[in-house]
Amino acid sequence: METSKSNYWHSRAQRVIPGGVSSPVRAFKAVGGTPRYFVSGAGSRVTDVDGNNYVDLVGSWGPMIVGHAHPKVVEKVSAAMSKSFSFGAPHPNESLLAESISQRVSAAERVRFVSSGTEAVMTAVRLARGATGRALIVKFSGCYHGHLDSMLVSAGSGVATLGLPNSPGVTAGQVADTVVLEYNNFDELNELFSERGSEVAAVITEAAAANMGVVPPLDGFNEQIAKLCAMHGALMILDEVMTGFRVSRAGWWGKYGSGWQPDLITMGKVIGGGLPLAAVAGRAEIMDLLAPLGSVYQAGTLSGNPVATSAGLATLELLDQDAYDLLDKRAGEIGDAISGALNGHVVQHSYQVAGNLFSFFLGCSRVTNYAQASTQDQTAFKIFFNSMLDNGVSIPPSAFEAWFVSTAITDSDVETIALAADRAARSVAQALN
Ligand SMILES: Cc1ncc(COP(=O)(O)O)c(C=O)c1O
Repeated sequence: METSKSNYWHSRAQRVIPGGVSSPVRAFKAVGGTPRYFVSGAGSRVTDVDGNNYVDLVGSWGPMIVGHAHPKVVEKVSAAMSKSFSFGAPHPNESLLAESISQRVSAAERVRFVSSGTEAVMTAVRLARGATGRALIVKFSGCYHGHLDSMLVSAGSGVATLGLPNSPGVTAGQVADTVVLEYNNFDELNELFSERGSEVAAVITEAAAANMGVVPPLDGFNEQIAKLCAMHGALMILDEVMTGFRVSRAGWWGKYGSGWQPDLITMGKVIGGGLPLAAVAGRAEIMDLLAPLGSVYQAGTLSGNPVATSAGLATLELLDQDAYDLLDKRAGEIGDAISGALNGHVVQHSYQVAGNLFSFFLGCSRVTNYAQASTQDQTAFKIFFNSMLDNGVSIPPSAFEAWFVSTAITDSDVETIALAADRAARSVAQALN
């Protein structure tokens, strides 16, 4: 596969951008080779600067759920852009999008827009501390909540991909009020609350962990968090930046959350349709502590701008029940094809699913926490990844990430993926034997 133009752009980028990338996992450090420089996308496919075309199973890490440059999204965004990109003042799109979110997710009584998932989590953490007057935040190892200082302890995603235990530049003081527990470990959770329950401002958890690879919550785990938080006067922050509006029209909680309710929910990715937009949402009495109604400060020059909100509105409008049924169907077809190829070549793996999110842990049996996820065979993944790419399928360049389908995937894309997977599984099997 010709990559000379990607190579050229990457050397140029590396001279002015640290590592040549605007976000670490894009650099291909964990999988080797040169990152592809993409120049266009249409539907399920992306094209790089050398003219190579790929089925896209990254989808900008989630937002491109209706595919690239969907005509209806392009139309709405273009119309919004022609009337100005940003006012730094209220405008109708914000209310329309907030209403649409609230209608879909009943726990989202109020919605405040920001520009990234990191900002949404930062705001949720500040709100929780402001509301409870407590400092302690509990998180789970392998869950990623963005790159705010207090959440970079034992984080998933790029932090896990690059094998960084914690980040230099984050002071001991900044993480002193973060307690890290093992994901899916009921005993550790119960023990923490029985010992320090009155100090806990919030427990934050991914609705279904998907930044250490896909590791769904065990039955009752999210519910137990909600129950303990309510008992001890702490708040539950459900991070749906990845799962929100992806796994169902009301996110993970809307689909799987019967009998319990989070206090705050963070959202991102899909709600911006590929433009920078995220949100913190939740119970009115807590959300109304935000300035200007309350004294918990939060602000943003471009927050909720008309262009990003129009992309979000157009994307959500396309996501009816048929769209979610299609996403589930495509995820199942692709996941089964990959798992079938790995089985066919006798490559041990665990195929893990959370709604239409899925990933594969090579060399593992079932994974329920980060310690187990870390034992996966990353060398095998590297071989698998590069073979998929060479055969026209772009998957996340890390063994610690979920794969993302879009409604634009076609039958012919599924065939391309199945063929590529067979070759990739064969390469892995040959390398391992
Ligand atoms: C669950 C979760 N929370 C927060 C974030 C941070 O979002 P952003 O990259 O928009 O800052 C991510 C990003 O992948 C995420 O998956």
